[in-house]
Amino acid sequence: MSIEILQTHKLLDTCEAALAARFTVHKLHEAADPDALLAELRDRVRGIAGGNVGPELMDKLPAVGIISNFGVGYDSIDTKAARERNVRVTNTPNVLNDAMAEITIGLMVALARNIPQTDRFVRDGKWLKGAFGLQRELNGKTLGILGLGRIGKEIAVRALAMKMRVVYHGRRKQADEPYQFYEHLVDMARDVDWLVLIAPGGKSTDKIVNRKVLEALGPEGFLVNMGRGTLVDEPVLVEMLQQRQIAGAALDVFEDEPNVPEALFALDNVVLSPHQGSATHQTRNKMGALVVANLEAHFAGEPLLTPVV
Ligand code: GLV
Repeated sequence: MSIEILQTHKLLDTCEAALAARFTVHKLHEAADPDALLAELRDRVRGIAGGNVGPELMDKLPAVGIISNFGVGYDSIDTKAARERNVRVTNTPNVLNDAMAEITIGLMVALARNIPQTDRFVRDGKWLKGAFGLQRELNGKTLGILGLGRIGKEIAVRALAMKMRVVYHGRRKQADEPYQFYEHLVDMARDVDWLVLIAPGGKSTDKIVNRKVLEALGPEGFLVNMGRGTLVDEPVLVEMLQQRQIAGAALDVFEDEPNVPEALFALDNVVLSPHQGSATHQTRNKMGALVVANLEAHFAGEPLLTPVV
């Protein structure tokens, strides 16, 4: 029998097929009795494909040596617990940078130019009764990026192409980057027209965009969240959008996905997107291939392609 692995949630069909061709795959998310499955597999499963892995699951599968996460963000895996148990963790960076940057700019244009609303306006026959009204442009505006990592840098070059000015805040100043660095997020929020969030989730960034930051962004400022819902104090954001204390928001991620605060549905100053930053055939296939390649490398005793632990 081939090496046994556990899959923790649904993966792309092509990725599942590639896993099944190489490994004996057990699907936790399809198990009628997950605890019974884990007890049965206890000493057999040597790897995990997918996220949502905490210390409890690791302890139930002590033979696991690798967790291969589908996604660049690995905040659903307890990396500290993995390190303590000598379990390697991999993610899927880089292959999604372009897709993420494209949709970020797309959502910004959609928000500035009211694309969802104007589409509805035409479909509803309202154009026959008069023009939609005037909108906003991106050019000439300042974009503040929270998290100038690999994706943030791709967003930055596209924003420059839109004739925006780019500044950033992050854990540290990056000497090789041409953009102005802000030591404090609140100061950057005060100075920008658009604030794009593309930082990782997890404890260190939890609700980093709080009321103070949103107040600094102010009634003319737009928020775009492409990172994780946990980066923002969501109830405060909803309240400030309702009261037009910030101009608008484009949101691809939410605190309790796929549950989106219903209060947002009534607002015309938001564009809502179902966590689809990397959701293209091109990119998701590459992400799936990396999940498989990391597992293969691990079991072949070769260096991991994209390790985080
Ligand atoms: C998507 O959110 C990812 O982390 O890849």
